[in-house]
This record gives sequence, C-alpha cells and structure tokens, in this order.
Amino acid sequence: MLETRDQFEELLKHARTDVDANYSQHLNPKFAQLLKTTGFDRTYTRGIGALLYDDQGREYIDCIAGHAVHSVGRSHPDVVAALRSALASDHPGWVQFELNPLAALLAKRLSQRMPGDLKHALFTSSGTEAVECALKLARRFTGRDAVLHCDKAFHGLTLGALAANGNPGLRNGFGTLGASLSIPLNNIDALERALASKEYGAFIIEPIQGKTCLPVSDGYLCEATRLCRLHGTLLIVDEIQTGIGRTGKFLAIEHDAGCEPDIVVLSKALSGGYVPVGAVLTRAAIWRKTFESMSKSFIHTSTFQAGTLAMVAALTVLEVHDRERLAERATNLGSILRAGCDEIATRNSAIAEVRGRGLMLGLALEKGALERAVAEIPAIGALEHLLFGQAFAMHLLSPHGILCQVSDSQSNVLKFTPPLVITSDACDRIVRALNETFTKFSGPSGPFVGGIKQVLTNLIR
Ligand SMILES: Cc1ncc(COP(=O)(O)O)c(C=O)c1O
Repeated sequence: MLETRDQFEELLKHARTDVDANYSQHLNPKFAQLLKTTGFDRTYTRGIGALLYDDQGREYIDCIAGHAVHSVGRSHPDVVAALRSALASDHPGWVQFELNPLAALLAKRLSQRMPGDLKHALFTSSGTEAVECALKLARRFTGRDAVLHCDKAFHGLTLGALAANGNPGLRNGFGTLGASLSIPLNNIDALERALASKEYGAFIIEPIQGKTCLPVSDGYLCEATRLCRLHGTLLIVDEIQTGIGRTGKFLAIEHDAGCEPDIVVLSKALSGGYVPVGAVLTRAAIWRKTFESMSKSFIHTSTFQAGTLAMVAALTVLEVHDRERLAERATNLGSILRAGCDEIATRNSAIAEVRGRGLMLGLALEKGALERAVAEIPAIGALEHLLFGQAFAMHLLSPHGILCQVSDSQSNVLKFTPPLVITSDACDRIVRALNETFTKFSGPSGPFVGGIKQVLTNLIR
C-alpha cells in the first residue's frame, strides 16, 4: 500500500531500477534510444516552480514545462492543496447522471473570459480531444466536412485532428484522412480563395504556431473572422498552447482586436499540469445544433470528461492566474528573454529569427558554412536531420542546465515555454547560456560539432 511520501519514493526507486529494460521491452525503445543518444536521459527527482532537479543534485531551468502545461509552476502550493482537499473529501466524481456542479461553475467562469458570446463549454481529457469535438461541432453546424488549416499547423494526432495537421511528416502513412486543405499562414488571399469555395466547415488556427513559434500577423485574425462569416465557415481558434496567460493575455487572440472566433479550444495549462483537461467554448447556436434535443444531450461526451480533480485544478488555476498576474508576468519576463535573444541574434548569424510572444519564444536557426560542410559527411548526414537544432539544445542542457526543445526538426526552431512563474534571474541565466552557446557557434568546438561528438560517443556507450 502507498500511504506515505517515503513509500511513494520507494515505488519510484523500484520502478527506476528496471526503467531501461521496461522501456525497451514494453514501452517505446526508440524514444529511450533518442534520449540516450542526445544525452537527455536524466533522472529528474524534484520540481519546484520553474526549476527541476535531477538525482545528481543538478538544477535545471525548465523551458519545456511539460509542453507548456506547467504555467503556474511545479508544486504550486494552492493547486496541490486544492487537489488534496478534493481527494480527502468523499465527493463522488463521475456519477454521470447528475448535474456536475464543478463543471457548471468552470463553464461559467471560462465563458466570462471569452470574447463575443462563447457561452457554452464542453470538457475533454486532452487538447486533441477538444479539437476533435470542435471539428465535430463545425461539421454539424455547417453541414460541411472539410477543414481548412495552415502549413505547419499542429492540432493533435488523432485521425480528425491529423487531417488539420500542416506537417506531411506527421500525416503520411496513416491512410486516408478527412478532407482538408493547407494554406500558408498569414496569407489573406489564400484564405479568401479557399473560403470562397464554400467547401470548408471550419478554419482552425493557432494564434502562435506551436511547432514554428510563428505568430499570426496583426489584423489577420480580425480579417479571418470577417471572411469566415462571409463564407459560412466557422473560425476555430486553437489556444491549447497559447491560452491561460502564456502570451501576455488570458487568450492570445486578445492581441488582435476584432477577432471573434466561433469556437475556442483550451487545454494544457488549464489545470496547471496536474490533471489532464481540455475545454471547448462555443456559441449557443452552434452548441444547440449538435445537442438539439434531450435524446441528443449526450451525443458527444466521454467517460472521463469533467472529472472532479480536473475541475478543481482548473478553478484553482484561474484564481492563481489572476492573483499572481501571470499574464502580466509573461509579458514582463518574456520581454527580458526577448531582448536578450534579439541582442544575441544581431551578433550571430546562427539565429535567423526570434519569434513568438510573451513566454512562448522560438529561435529559428540557420546553418553556417561549417555545419553545411559537416552535414555532407555521409555518416553525419544520416544523423543531421535529428541533430542540427538538437545540438544546441544539448549544449544548453549541459553544461548550462537549461532544458529546452527543438520544436520542429525541419525548421530547426529552438523553443522556450517556461512556467510563467519563472524569475527574472532565471531569465538572465537563460540569456547568458544562449549567449555563450551562440558565441561558440562558429568555432571548431561549437555546439553543432560538439553535439555530433557527443552523439557519436553516446551511440557507442
Ligand atoms: C496547439 C495545439 N493543439 C493541440 C494539441 C494537442 O493537445 P494534446 O497533446 O493535449 O492532445 C497541442 C499539443 O501540443 C497543441 O500545441
């Protein structure tokens, strides 16, 4: 039985003794190999705020934050206390045939934060599931099956969401997907041409793309609102990654006055990273078209939707977001990172562009002559696809203790989405680490060459 913290630690210790073998035989050997090859195979034992600690006592600044879920920071005392209090009660979750009071309260509080009249909420257990639900609502409301999306868009990997994915590398090989069209981001003419065909039930878009960190240009979403209305297509804004304060506003679309989506999808930071949750917010007319009668009142649902812990965590996260002014923090702390990155970029040709907003930043990397030459070597060429951006992430991890990721192997974007509670000191540390990493870039011991050496060493370990 697991009753104490020590007993939980014992279970973890036991699980860790066989983790390599269990991964290789029963879970995902290729992922285990990837971590080992890139030196990301660390054992993290503690997380507080924006910091992680490993079993060697080393400290890391977590710029991945569980793919942008831990916005309130790890081990947030209020969320932990709220979840403990819910668990300690005898409140019965998932009775299913009852009016769920916590879900109704969260629906109201979320709808109050939405633009326009997005009054109805549906809850899910993940971001992808929220996207699936939004696509279904749009199909039902418009009677059109096809979905319009942007190049490089990411909305999840289940079959419906995959049809709206803008990366062929993720789409291909899974058979016929639903009808869809990919258009270039920020190209109003392409959007207008596609919408004018009146084939599309939905246009789905991220205000800042998770994979490329490219933001929509000013006014684009306002114009997309107008064009979608004109042509009878629903505008779905995917705020799964950008929502709950990350870009400096509760929703990233608030930066674009005049954007009035028909559907907003949320997930990730909504529960502070403690419990899987997703939400779909939409207008009454759209909701009613799907849930049109009593017999259709559960035509779209799932067993684990609106669980007690998810609702409690989300209600608490909204309070923390307001009390700790997390959106404002994202603006202020993001501007420290941004100014540092912009300054480094002026001195270093390895950075083609600094992108993003608030605490969602991407450095688009450019290969120099040395990297292009090294990539021509056959043995290295095979690794190069994995390696170019990753080599920088590896150098930031060790020696600097900055955990970040390459968000898209093709465009080589080094991505930073730290918890919104990150301190200014930690931001300064990230900037210093980036400065050192990129200053070394052009020398023979630069991160790319160092990364190759490390990968080759790890491969024969
Ligand atoms: C913009 C966006 N949409 C959808 C998803 C899918 O969410 P989930 O992984 O919770 O299913 C993600 C996940 O990274 C995302 O960033």
